[in-house]
Amino acid sequence: MTDRPRVFVARVIPDEGLDPVREACEVDLWTDELPPPRDELLRRVAGTDGLLSLLTDTVDDELLDAAGPQLKVVSNFAVGFDNIDVAACTRRGIPAGNTPGVLTETTADLAFTLLMAAARRIPEGVDYVRDGHWKTWGPMLLMGVDVHGATLGIVGFGRIGREMARRARGFGMRILYHDVHPAAPEEEAELGVRRVELDDLLRESDFVSLHVNLTDETHHLIDADALRAMKPTAVLVNTARGPVIDPEALEHALRTGEIFAAGLDVTEPEPLPADHPLVALPNCVVLPHVASASRVTRGKMAAMAAANLLAGLRGERLPTPVNPEVYE
Ligand code: DGY
Repeated sequence: MTDRPRVFVARVIPDEGLDPVREACEVDLWTDELPPPRDELLRRVAGTDGLLSLLTDTVDDELLDAAGPQLKVVSNFAVGFDNIDVAACTRRGIPAGNTPGVLTETTADLAFTLLMAAARRIPEGVDYVRDGHWKTWGPMLLMGVDVHGATLGIVGFGRIGREMARRARGFGMRILYHDVHPAAPEEEAELGVRRVELDDLLRESDFVSLHVNLTDETHHLIDADALRAMKPTAVLVNTARGPVIDPEALEHALRTGEIFAAGLDVTEPEPLPADHPLVALPNCVVLPHVASASRVTRGKMAAMAAANLLAGLRGERLPTPVNPEVYE
C-alpha cells in the first residue's frame, strides 16, 4: 500500500509533465495512441485523486460520479476546455485547470501558416509537382489571392487573436476584429486594429480567422448566412474549435465559390474521416488539430498540466484554474 495520490493520465504526454507526476503519484497511464473508450475511462478514473485529461475526454457528471468523492482535481492538457463540464466540477468543489499562454504564439504561427497555405494554394501546388503535372512555367497556373495589403478579420480577440494581429501587421494587412470585449484604445492603436460588428467584419475581410472559445453562442457561428456575407475571394481559417463552423454550409460555400478557400486545423466531426467531402475539396486545407504541436510548446503544456494536477492534489490553488469560483 502507498499513501501517494492515485492519478489517471489519459495519454502519453511529454516528459516535462509525466516526470513530475510520476515522482509524486501512483500513475495509471493510458498508453494507446487513441483516447480511452468511454467505458474504460469511467473504469480507470474510479477511486483516483486526480485526472489529467485531454480535449478528447469528456469530463461530465457521469465521469465525476464514476471517479468518486475523493477526486481532488481535473487538469486538462489544452487551453480549450469545452470537453469539461466546468459547472459540474465546481458543484463538487473540484478545481479544473487548463494550459493558457504557453501555446499562444505557436497556435498563431499555425493559423497564419494555414492562411497563407490556403491563399497561395500550397497543398495543390505540392500535389501538382508530386503527381508529375509540372511541365512548364504557366502564366495561369495555380493563381491564388494576395495576403499582403489585404484585410484580415479576427473573430475572438483573446491571446491568440492578438498574436494573429501582430503577424498580420508584418504583412501590411488592415486588421479588423470582433469580440464582445473591446480591447483598450491604447492596445487597438498599438496593434493597429479596429473593432467592428461581425456582419461588417465578414463583409469587409479578405481573410477571416476564428479564435473564439466553443460555447452555445459560438456553435455554428459561421453558418450559411455568414458564409454568404463573405467575399467570393475570401479565405476562412479555423484554429479554434471545429463546431464554430457549420461544416455542411462550408462545403457548399467552397464548392460553389461563395468563398475562395478555407484552412482548417479543427473540424466537425473530429477526426474528419478521409472520405469526408471537405477533405476532397482542393480549396480546403485540412490539418489534424496540430496548431500547438511544436516540441517546445507541447513540453510547456505538459509541465503546466502537471503543475495544475499536483497543486490540486496538495490542496493548493491551481496555477491556472478555469473555475476560480471554486475557491470562493
Ligand atoms: C488547445 O489547447 O485547446 C488546443 O486545441 C490544442 O492545443
